[in-house]
Amino acid sequence: MIRLIKPYISFEEVEIEFKQIFESGIFTKGEYSRLFPEELKRYTGAKHAYLTTSATTALTTCLKLLHIGSGDEVIVSDFSFPASANVIEDVGARPVFADVSLDTFNMLPEELERKITNKTKAVIFVDAFGNPSGILEIKTICQKYNLPLIEDAACAIGSSIDGIKVGNIADLTCFSFHPRKLLTTGEGGAVLTNNEEYAQKLQVKLNHGAIAREGGLDFLDYGYNYRLPELQCVMGIVQLKKLDEIIRARNEVKNRYCKILEPLGFISQKVSGIIIHNIQSIVFKVPAGQGSSDIISRLKEENIEATIGTYSLSYCKYYRDKYNDAQRNGKLLFENTVTLPCYEDIEVENVCNKIKKIIL
Ligand SMILES: Cc1ncc(COP(=O)(O)O)c(C=O)c1O
Repeated sequence: MIRLIKPYISFEEVEIEFKQIFESGIFTKGEYSRLFPEELKRYTGAKHAYLTTSATTALTTCLKLLHIGSGDEVIVSDFSFPASANVIEDVGARPVFADVSLDTFNMLPEELERKITNKTKAVIFVDAFGNPSGILEIKTICQKYNLPLIEDAACAIGSSIDGIKVGNIADLTCFSFHPRKLLTTGEGGAVLTNNEEYAQKLQVKLNHGAIAREGGLDFLDYGYNYRLPELQCVMGIVQLKKLDEIIRARNEVKNRYCKILEPLGFISQKVSGIIIHNIQSIVFKVPAGQGSSDIISRLKEENIEATIGTYSLSYCKYYRDKYNDAQRNGKLLFENTVTLPCYEDIEVENVCNKIKKIIL
């Protein structure tokens, strides 16, 4: 089977540190969970980084520290994995879906501005498949209305705009380290910020609500244990060192796919501005008249793993039934996109030949 993605990590790369952790018995709150956030800060340039167990817990923590809850609205990009809206629902607020660009797949500025009400308390901008295109325009609107901007950068570690890495753009940025991402710790996540007030609050929230004092803890708030264990932090540190090279290689793979597939009518996800896109996924709009589900199932018969792009949040059954607010472009992308396998040694020509056989 040609897999969709292969993790960029081997056991040999972590063996020594894993052995050391087992020998020391320090499985949490040790050297590596101190080091991994330091490395994340060094890599991204962000001032503060805190680890979590997933992007979902990272996003929830952000909403909680902003005191978002019942009666509030949070505007969220419509084309995303449902976790982007679930976290809003989970804190008791209402997700308001903003439609996305058919080119970049990201939130449209005019859609955001149209949806702001006096109940809006924050905006969650999703970097679709790691692409941060359009976030600067969204940030300008958030500043105009004094709304905190949370970047759901679950897929976007390593991407940058004009040389500035994701992690420094929004007020709060959340990464995922799930195995479908370019850096994986099995499960895991992080919140990054350059805002001192948010940083202090994150530190407390993510430590059971406590700060350390001489001889003990003071519990200033209620909080969580979303800590990432030591073994997982080792995995993160190792992969961070290779990330820029991985991103360069994935961009080459995408170019090779584009050369063959665009003449056949496939349209790739676009970037706008001076962007390095980490290509977390290679996603194409399928040619007019072709069904993405048909292409995906026929590729599976050929032992090639492919999947849809992602979901239209407003069109997921739960949100459709509850809010009845389907977004046109989000739904079009949900129904007409396909994600193709991507890693360094992928046989692009082989995959494309199978696709040609299916569609021609
Ligand atoms: C855009 C987006 N946000 C949030 C998540 C949730 O990430 P996690 O699995 O780390 O909670 C995902 C997962 O795929 C995602 O793609």
